[in-house]
Amino acid sequence: MRILVMGGTWFLGRAVVNGALARGWEVTTFTRGRSGVPVAGAVAVHGDREQPSDLTALAAHGPWDAVVDTSASELAPRTVLDGAKVLAPQAQRYVYISTVSAYRGWPDEPLSVESEVLDGPPDADADYGRLPPDWTGPDYYYGRQKAGAERAVLAAFADRASVLRPGVILGPGEYVGRLPWWLRRAERGGAILAPGGPARTIQPADVRDVAQFALDQAAESGLQIHNVTAPLGRETWGGFLDACLRTTGSTGRLVWAPDEVLLNAGVQQWTELPLWRTHAGAWAVDSSTAFAAGFRSRPLVETVADTWAWLQQGNLPVPHPRWAEHGIDPAKETSILEKVS
Ligand SMILES: NC(=O)c1ccc[n+]([C@@H]2O[C@H](COP(=O)([O-])OP(=O)(O)OC[C@H]3O[C@@H](n4cnc5c(N)ncnc54)[C@H](OP(=O)(O)O)[C@@H]3O)[C@@H](O)[C@H]2O)c1
Repeated sequence: MRILVMGGTWFLGRAVVNGALARGWEVTTFTRGRSGVPVAGAVAVHGDREQPSDLTALAAHGPWDAVVDTSASELAPRTVLDGAKVLAPQAQRYVYISTVSAYRGWPDEPLSVESEVLDGPPDADADYGRLPPDWTGPDYYYGRQKAGAERAVLAAFADRASVLRPGVILGPGEYVGRLPWWLRRAERGGAILAPGGPARTIQPADVRDVAQFALDQAAESGLQIHNVTAPLGRETWGGFLDACLRTTGSTGRLVWAPDEVLLNAGVQQWTELPLWRTHAGAWAVDSSTAFAAGFRSRPLVETVADTWAWLQQGNLPVPHPRWAEHGIDPAKETSILEKVS
């Protein structure tokens, strides 16, 4: 197989490249050369997806059996459409990494691949769905952009496409700082504020498993649309945080705080206590079609252990603003712990 990875130097794209090379596939990557360094063994082409001439120059490196598009988290549907049109004559198939945020019901409702997808035209620009600064309602901007980008891929590749919708992705190389924060917090020890209760479920997928499934899909045929999360009900917060304690050799002690206590204390969901979200659908995504198509999801304890090993190596990615968004101020944590201990 000969594939083009849009991205390929950073987190998921890097895992896709490593996985493809391990399969003996030929890999071309396309990035601007800002995030990470190219993986040895891949042909690195540099250019900007927002520049038509760069896309034309990229197409000259084809043909490919498949494109795996991991670099469109912040690109407008129109940019994805322009690129997909240029690449359509040069590639048999397109695997687009979307997100569960493309569903209207996320994170409020349980979701399956049958759930309603947000609006978002395939040729929308970056302003589509943007909200006024004083907006306090639900923020569907990212989801609308990704839903539009999905339609852009289908406009160019029709039934030669896979659309994959992961939930949260964790694992070695995670630049967002979610699992790294919990690991560092566990390492620090003491009384550790744990959100909700130990039996509450959680569904992150390992970056390497998402990458392997994207590669499987590159070799597939027909239109395929799948959610990509850990199985419903398999992983719990208790198991996750225990794994963080064990992996780091922590002497810390988990102190579980009910949602209401955290909400009343003004703890920001998703960021201050990373991955904590009270919405009923945040971890209720049915990925059964992906499992039927061959997706394999390793136990979360392995993701935790391997991410800790990666952190210990000091291999942090380039500084990323999202890393600093994560974590609760120790004084705020202590004041909440005093209420629940
Ligand atoms: N992380 C998660 O938890 C999560 C969850 C669900 C879905 N997803 C989706 O998974 C995909 C991969 O996410 P990610 O976090 O691994 O990577 P990402 O931050 O979306 O993409 C970064 C990669 O794309 C390249 N890139 C960015 N803009 C570019 C441009 N204009 N032209 C050419 N290359 C460009 C970057 O290299 P240069 O900067 O060097 O150009 C880098 O290699 C995204 O589509 C995201 O929406 C992620």
